[in-house]
Amino acid sequence: MMFPHLFRPLTLGSRTVKNRVVLPPHAHVVSSLWGTDEEAERHIGYWAERTSAGWVDGVSAHVRNNLIPGFEPTGVGAQYDGHYRQPYFLDRVGRLAEVLHRDGTILTVQMILQGGMPHAASPTLSGPVVNQVPHALTHDEIDWFVEEYAHGARQIALAGADGAEVHLNHDDMLEYFLSPLTNHRTDEYGGDLAGRLQFPLRILSALRDAMGPDRIVGVRLNLREEEPGGYGIDGPDGAVAIAQALEASGYVDYLSCAIGSPWGNPSYIQSQHHRPAEWSELAGRVKAAVSLPVVYTGRVTSPAVAEELLAAGHADVVGMARAVIADGQLLTKAKEGRPEDIRPCVGGNECISRRVVEGTPFSCAVNPEAGKEADNAVRPTASPQRILVIGGGPAGMEVAGIAAERGHRVTLWEAQAALGGQLRTAANAPRHEDYRSYLAWQERRLAAAGVTVATGRRADTTAVADFGADRVAVATGATARTPSIPGVDLPHVHTAHAVLDDEEQRIALGEHVLVVAQDDHLAPLSVADFLATKGHRVTMVHGTAAPGPLLSRYILGSILARLDAGGVTLRTSEQPVSIESGQVTVRHVYSGATRAIAGVDSVVLSCGAVQESSLYDELRSLDVAADIVGDAYAPRRLVFATKQARELALTL
Ligand SMILES: Cc1cc2nc3c(=O)[nH]c(=O)nc-3n(C[C@H](O)[C@H](O)[C@H](O)COP(=O)(O)O)c2cc1C
Ligand code: SF4
Repeated sequence: MMFPHLFRPLTLGSRTVKNRVVLPPHAHVVSSLWGTDEEAERHIGYWAERTSAGWVDGVSAHVRNNLIPGFEPTGVGAQYDGHYRQPYFLDRVGRLAEVLHRDGTILTVQMILQGGMPHAASPTLSGPVVNQVPHALTHDEIDWFVEEYAHGARQIALAGADGAEVHLNHDDMLEYFLSPLTNHRTDEYGGDLAGRLQFPLRILSALRDAMGPDRIVGVRLNLREEEPGGYGIDGPDGAVAIAQALEASGYVDYLSCAIGSPWGNPSYIQSQHHRPAEWSELAGRVKAAVSLPVVYTGRVTSPAVAEELLAAGHADVVGMARAVIADGQLLTKAKEGRPEDIRPCVGGNECISRRVVEGTPFSCAVNPEAGKEADNAVRPTASPQRILVIGGGPAGMEVAGIAAERGHRVTLWEAQAALGGQLRTAANAPRHEDYRSYLAWQERRLAAAGVTVATGRRADTTAVADFGADRVAVATGATARTPSIPGVDLPHVHTAHAVLDDEEQRIALGEHVLVVAQDDHLAPLSVADFLATKGHRVTMVHGTAAPGPLLSRYILGSILARLDAGGVTLRTSEQPVSIESGQVTVRHVYSGATRAIAGVDSVVLSCGAVQESSLYDELRSLDVAADIVGDAYAPRRLVFATKQARELALTL
């Protein structure tokens, strides 16, 4: 047994959990349990694929809000009606519980009133990046909420779930009561920790009454608020003291420990900029102070990381969200002793950010099947064909992998000496090592699926015709984009790609490097991080009003913190209009005023990419049956490439 601690059972309240893994709430973003019948099926199908975990803390259900007519709550999780009073609550939670129980997995339901909007303890702000003053609850409203939580708990029990978890973290109304940062009340619900815990304890007491001793009642708790004025781990207000008080109340069966200020560094969905299980020792401090089972969640990226923190005694149970989005079979593979088959999460938070920022449906960057399990679409083909995939970047690799797994005979040609395309270059930026792990996994996957891979093989129309494939997938990717700025051809101007790939070019940059950021996602910020880490003084020039407008608050704080620590100067709403030796002239994109930035030793262009589609165009002109996929169609991000690759591979 490779992971002995991971696969030991645990007693949790009145239940036995078959192993030490809980899947914490996240799947409402994957597909809504509260949406259409089809969405609910997909939600249940997502979990059904993941019953190798002993415990699914899977349902994120909002408590009804109490608002004056006409007030519109805004922000993450803002809700009028909540979920517990919806007519479909019992049916859908019941069906999910049934599916999980069939495989011996327990289900708890999380009770949320997130975002604090408009409700909180006091009219105070929880941090510097959300500036909406909440309404301070009256005593009547507090009583109303206690009854509303109790009603929700009765529904949970009626539906057949095993328990309820109170969301006492992540910018929830209840965290606002708990925290000295946001609770400035002078009545019995404020003051010292005992006062600040009054409201949460009334709710927990009501839950215990509503559910009886047979069900589990738990709490999700922030380990450290990571915000000046918030609570830390120690002291009379700290997480250890809170945990002890919760245990002493007798209402609670477990403590689930997470980390993160609402939208800061880290966010509560910690990006790849943070070490695996970085905060698990804090959970260990809580565990040492209580006898209740303690869960730790936060960048537990693999079974090995989980095993290590359990073995070190930092927690009784590990929570894994994104690692199991990336590979629903993670635990099965771990149990079978083949962890190298696990598809690694790359930690870039597309799973949350895309929907929040771009309004596009959920997709995982590395696992385009996540959320689509119920569709059962990746089936063996009835008519195996000879498929030629041209280009071994993320799109080409994914097409080849799925097509071969479906039973096609697949050949993949890559012009470069190694597979990976631009992702291999991106992996050189700081904290981007997970890309390398992902590419290594893809290579193992292609080999296992029987794909014939030829690197250093550049395709042309003659070679494609000679090969005689039934179908051709063109995934020729994209090349670095060079904006047309006077002076862009000067010798001290380089593409980010070149600098990331070539250490000698990087060394020759000199002291002060100006990064031209014409890409709305993480890439330019990672390039600046790379240069600052190597000791350069970096100035970034963005045309947008803020850096990384397509990054969500779930990742922005972590990279901005790194850039600030590296001394990077961020300039916004400016575009370079000329590059000269030692100087770059920029124009304010709105006022039109121009300014010179002097003392620039070199310029690095992080300006996205341009599609390389010429082979596809030629094949089409020769009437060869070819499809185009990934950056070759239009350059986007990894998540776009893998998603398109799946769709194409399913048509083969
Ligand atoms: C898409 C998504 C949705 C999430 N929704 C919730 C939620 O509703 N409630 C909650 O407490 N945590 C939520 N989280 C946070 C996770 O439960 C978990 O704490 C976090 O992702 C860190 O764990 P990980 O590193 O294993 O992903 C969500 C995370 C993701 C990725
Ligand atoms: S989208 Fe990215 S962060 Fe989210 S689970 Fe997939 S690989 Fe991990």
